[in-house]
Amino acid sequence: MASSTPTPQLTLSTGAAIPVIGLGTWPLDDSQVAVTVADAVATGYRLIDTAAKYGNEAGVGQGIRDSGIAREQLFVTTKLDGGYQGNDRAIPGLDASLDRLGLDYVDLLMIHWPLPAKDLYVDTWNSFGKLLAAGKTRAIGVSNFKPAHLDRLIAETGVAPAVNQIQLDPTLARAETRSYNTAHGIVTQSWSPLGRGDTLSNPVITGIADRLGKSAAQVILRWHVQLGLSAVPKSASSARLAQNLDIFDFELTSEDMDAIAGLDQGEAAAQDSDVIGH
Ligand code: A2P
Repeated sequence: MASSTPTPQLTLSTGAAIPVIGLGTWPLDDSQVAVTVADAVATGYRLIDTAAKYGNEAGVGQGIRDSGIAREQLFVTTKLDGGYQGNDRAIPGLDASLDRLGLDYVDLLMIHWPLPAKDLYVDTWNSFGKLLAAGKTRAIGVSNFKPAHLDRLIAETGVAPAVNQIQLDPTLARAETRSYNTAHGIVTQSWSPLGRGDTLSNPVITGIADRLGKSAAQVILRWHVQLGLSAVPKSASSARLAQNLDIFDFELTSEDMDAIAGLDQGEAAAQDSDVIGH
């Protein structure tokens, strides 16, 4: 069922607005994602998150066309594959993504991983500036960057990302990166905000959910929103897509927020590596 109220938005450093909840599309393949994107747009989603590495940009583009929505009503994010990092290599990299998506521009282009061993993210960032100036992306950001990577990017280019998308859920709350981002005007966006589903059965979460008459996923997504984050949960189920967007008619108390903060297990739980290919 379509949500009757528009999803609240955060303002990026560019002045553009980004919805606080969007659709994550990993690991859906082209045919699954085409159906899911069209379903999500009909449900009220306006932020769709993909990546070259997910191998599903063509399906995302198909889903957008199938949805019938006007392009300017959507916020579409993609991420540059590591193989395209380097001086001006991002330019053909984004062109290839746009071809697969069937779009003239994306709303946000991210460096998918810093890949510090390659030492190319500063060069890549300079190329992103050219893509921004050319109008092929409306904003530029990064994913999986830690404060040390961001420090270097900002020191060497003077340009802070609009968004840093990181793995973040109640067991991996990433306070240090969040506060760095906030101090530098960078919106923090959470990938795998439900901890890939693993946090849904946590008794602290289910206790709050039972008291409020909400689902565990709704409580967790509400926690992200109350922390001032944007989050991109993935679901391939129509009912769960709708549920994940229906989180704006209740509030967690400060005691709830504190109880959820107690679930943080620190950075050791992070999967910040290429191995998972997210
Ligand atoms: P499904 O696609 O079958 O709904 P994350 O976004 O943190 O990676 O989590 C995604 C996982 O959580 C998927 O396995 C997804 O399964 C599941 N999921 C997404 N939304 C919900 C929900 N509202 N309730 C239960 N499970 C959910």
